[in-house]
Amino acid sequence: MTFQLPDNHPLVAGNTADSALIRAYTGRPVTRRPVWFMRQAGRSLPEYRKVREGISMLDSCLKPELAAEITCQPVRRHDVDAGIFFSDIVVPLKLAGIEVEIVPGVGPVMGKAIRTAADVAALPELDPAALAPIREAVGIVVAELGDTPLIGFAGAPFTLASYLVEGRPNRELPATRAMLAADPHTFNQLLAWVARLTTTFLRAQAEAGASALQLFDSWVGRLSVAEYETAVQPHSTAVFAGIADLGVPRVHFGTATKDLLPNLLAAGADVVGVATDITLSQASALLGGNVVLQGNLDPAMLSAKWSELACEVRQVCAQGEAAPGHVFNLGHGVPPDTDPEVLTRVVELVHSIPPKAVKE
Ligand code: CP3
Repeated sequence: MTFQLPDNHPLVAGNTADSALIRAYTGRPVTRRPVWFMRQAGRSLPEYRKVREGISMLDSCLKPELAAEITCQPVRRHDVDAGIFFSDIVVPLKLAGIEVEIVPGVGPVMGKAIRTAADVAALPELDPAALAPIREAVGIVVAELGDTPLIGFAGAPFTLASYLVEGRPNRELPATRAMLAADPHTFNQLLAWVARLTTTFLRAQAEAGASALQLFDSWVGRLSVAEYETAVQPHSTAVFAGIADLGVPRVHFGTATKDLLPNLLAAGADVVGVATDITLSQASALLGGNVVLQGNLDPAMLSAKWSELACEVRQVCAQGEAAPGHVFNLGHGVPPDTDPEVLTRVVELVHSIPPKAVKE
């Protein structure tokens, strides 16, 4: 592998290149099955709630020491195989100068919904220099994590555009779907703008030390395959192409995506994140049996009886064997009311199940 990354980057310097996560992401055999959780940093942890007291979500993302501390908390506590950078998909919007807040219990709320061609034309480009607090936080994290890789992330063009167009969370995405149907040209311009913003945000995290990158297209399962292929996939493809030269593994995840998995792969991902609407063995078969998968324990199981949860964890691990590499995760984020001790136990259990022996 050649990397367009500085010599002291953890992948280039060798710290993380042979970690379980990066070995699995690149289809190499592992001695322990890697595990991390989407939203592992956050409200399930009392130490998170304590350091967040009195500081808004987005302010905490832009304080490098604090964002770094929150990123490392779940790694220290659970012995997960990766940190996921503590930030949010709307952080690059804020750094581009767009008015946005994260309202507790609601989600991202925009100062103004983006609905017209004029709104889209007025969107400012993100100046990479504005990402200084992100680079600084990533630098602090990778110094603490050492041999444990950090995963950087961003929102995919469709999911981030849906927040801009709706103005506030709305699961049905009515305004987004209306723009896609009635004004595809403006919708296309909007997604192209988000793709540039997202690429800049991802590059900054990798250049500062992230060893893998995940693109979250959480709401893309609302689209038909035809809509995805025509209106969305070219923009997600542009994002993956825009980070390809970095040489870091690229993960693509969305929910309700069982019909879209081949498209998520075709957009340029190395690893496909699987939600709970399909089993890992079905997903692997659908993708031709040669794609590394991440997933997919149902987050709702975290509040089930331990015996039932353990049975599900074993099943997810067994099904992951269908793929050439498997990184254990949930099918979506950790619910805020999760008992953190349950997460620690899940990590222990996953680590205790030997991965299948594969010859190198
Ligand atoms: O641990 C991690 O996974 C890293 C941090 C992370 C956050 N957001 C922190 C956060 C990541 C990867 C995200 C991504 C994100 N943000 C997505 C894609 C993943 C997904 O869940 O589908 C989306 C859609 C968002 C937008 C967003 N931000 C929502 C829907 C919410 C929840 C609002 C609420 O209060 O219920 C947020 C806020 C947010 N982002 C929190 C965290 C820890 C909660 C804020 C808090 O603790 O007060």
